[in-house]
Amino acid sequence: MRVTVTGAAGQIAYCLLPLLARGDVFGYEQPIELVLLDIEQAQTSLQGVAMELEDGAYPLLTAIHCTSDVNKAFVEADVAILLGAFPRKLGMERRDLLVKNAAIFKEQGEAIRKHAKEHIRILVVGNPANTNAAVLAQYASNIDKKQITALSRLDQNRATSFVAKKLKISPEEVKNVFVWGNHSNTQYPDLFNGVTNRGPLPDWLRDEKFLRDEFIPVIQERGAAVIKARKLSSAMSAANAVKDHLRDWFLGTQDIVNMVVCSDGSYGIKKGIFFSFPCYCPGNGTFEIVPHFPWSSFGEPWIERTKKELYEEWEQAFTALFPKSSL
Ligand code: NAI
Repeated sequence: MRVTVTGAAGQIAYCLLPLLARGDVFGYEQPIELVLLDIEQAQTSLQGVAMELEDGAYPLLTAIHCTSDVNKAFVEADVAILLGAFPRKLGMERRDLLVKNAAIFKEQGEAIRKHAKEHIRILVVGNPANTNAAVLAQYASNIDKKQITALSRLDQNRATSFVAKKLKISPEEVKNVFVWGNHSNTQYPDLFNGVTNRGPLPDWLRDEKFLRDEFIPVIQERGAAVIKARKLSSAMSAANAVKDHLRDWFLGTQDIVNMVVCSDGSYGIKKGIFFSFPCYCPGNGTFEIVPHFPWSSFGEPWIERTKKELYEEWEQAFTALFPKSSL
């Protein structure tokens, strides 16, 4: 299995690569070859990462290739994990960030179309992840959209862990806590479908004041809270969520998990928009959006807000990429 990781000299990659090499992601019997892509200026640091991987003496890791050439990176790739993105700089508008990243994901989409295996599975992590995935899907035009996903599992893990801590139980016992929409601070973390092994969540966890004043803002702002405390963005937990997302997608799970996937019109979300939905993963890189979870009247305005933001993001990226066309 040839796995391409972009942004491979970055901090999420540093936590993720050992998980891939050890077999935690694709199974303990699956040999893998890693192709590590980063920009030219990061090549020395990337060599250091490759040395450390070698020094790990991982039995499943058959080869490591480092490159700054996007056209070499995706040759014969079975899996692409796209961590690399242009970071938001001080004073930069969100629109400028979208446009910068649209150019990166356009180039990578084209390279995937030309060089990757047709059955490739792709996970976009670099932000703005939903819209980057939508851009990539436009240019990797020979790849079925159901093979392209983005990461919202970190948001789901954060919400699940929050509930488990409140109830003093293991996160494993908490199911069906979902985060809908955009991986941004408009995301809607939703407890109305949540259950534990012992039954539905207690009423106080669905109290509207508690949701509005505590649960929702804590989850929406969790990334910012980590940055404030660590002076760096989430990396260990992001790598762990990448592992969970890919492992469930490839090996299957009974749980309903959050994935950002291309809307097929489910839940009234416009087709082609990449939205975080609850998904069922039977294995082998397949998923189905689970259609029947109600939002409740409390959830509707939150969904509207995140949906609106995603539609606007897509419009801005689309206008930048195809200035003469209309949506
Ligand atoms: P980082 O800044 O430590 O590493 C990013 C790496 O990407 C750098 O080595 C950089 O040189 C490289 N890079 C930049 N442009 C590139 C290009 N065109 N091709 C290849 N490599 C390129 O960032 P970190 O912490 O590893 O995060 C990576 C991305 O993941 C960021 O965009 C971050 O916002 C996002 N993220 C997304 C999460 C999610 O849940 N969807 C959670 C956490 C982070």
